[in-house]
Amino acid sequence: MSRKRVAILISGRGSNMQALIEAAKAPDFPAEIVGVFSNKSDAPGLDFARANGVPTATRSHKDFATREDFDAVIDQTLTAWQVDYVCLAGFMRIFSTGFARKWTGRMLNIHPSLLPKYKGLHPHQQALDDGASVHGCTVHWVIPELDDGPAILQAQVPILPGDTAETLAARTLVAEHRIYPEALRMLASGEIAPL
Ligand code: GAR
Repeated sequence: MSRKRVAILISGRGSNMQALIEAAKAPDFPAEIVGVFSNKSDAPGLDFARANGVPTATRSHKDFATREDFDAVIDQTLTAWQVDYVCLAGFMRIFSTGFARKWTGRMLNIHPSLLPKYKGLHPHQQALDDGASVHGCTVHWVIPELDDGPAILQAQVPILPGDTAETLAARTLVAEHRIYPEALRMLASGEIAPL
């Protein structure tokens, strides 16, 4: 079995990245994590990646004059790692259209809502403010429009009386850690039709 080469992009905690790295340790998992890139050199997730032998690269977006210039560095890093697929895992940067177009069909994201509901920031609070009774998360293809590519996998979680954005986020995160590795497994094993 030739395993697909996957890079993960993070900006912070990296718990979804951790779930992907752990899943890829299984000998029969059809993908290997070949690198983790972060726009924050102090992203806590980087420590886990390094401790698990995954190469890391960091560059701050603040060091670049334009979005395009920063994205060019990400593109060079992904190309050097010879990646087949990219998983965004809490990567809190918006891509330039050119970069997003180039990687469309090879890039996934996880968003903590049942897309197309509650795109953008604070999706848990958006769900609570909306009076929703069900929330969840979505693994989807990344396309140039933000949080808008076709869904690959979704999971629902209940909204319970007394929930805050924090308690709802914690419940949703458990589901995220389940469906992101499963979506990557499906993609890398050819079970998902190309975009
Ligand atoms: C996750 O809940 C992820 O779904 C969300 O950020 C969190 C990152 O946590 N992503 C977005 O909101 C993207 N629009 P993690 O760093 O522990 O994986």
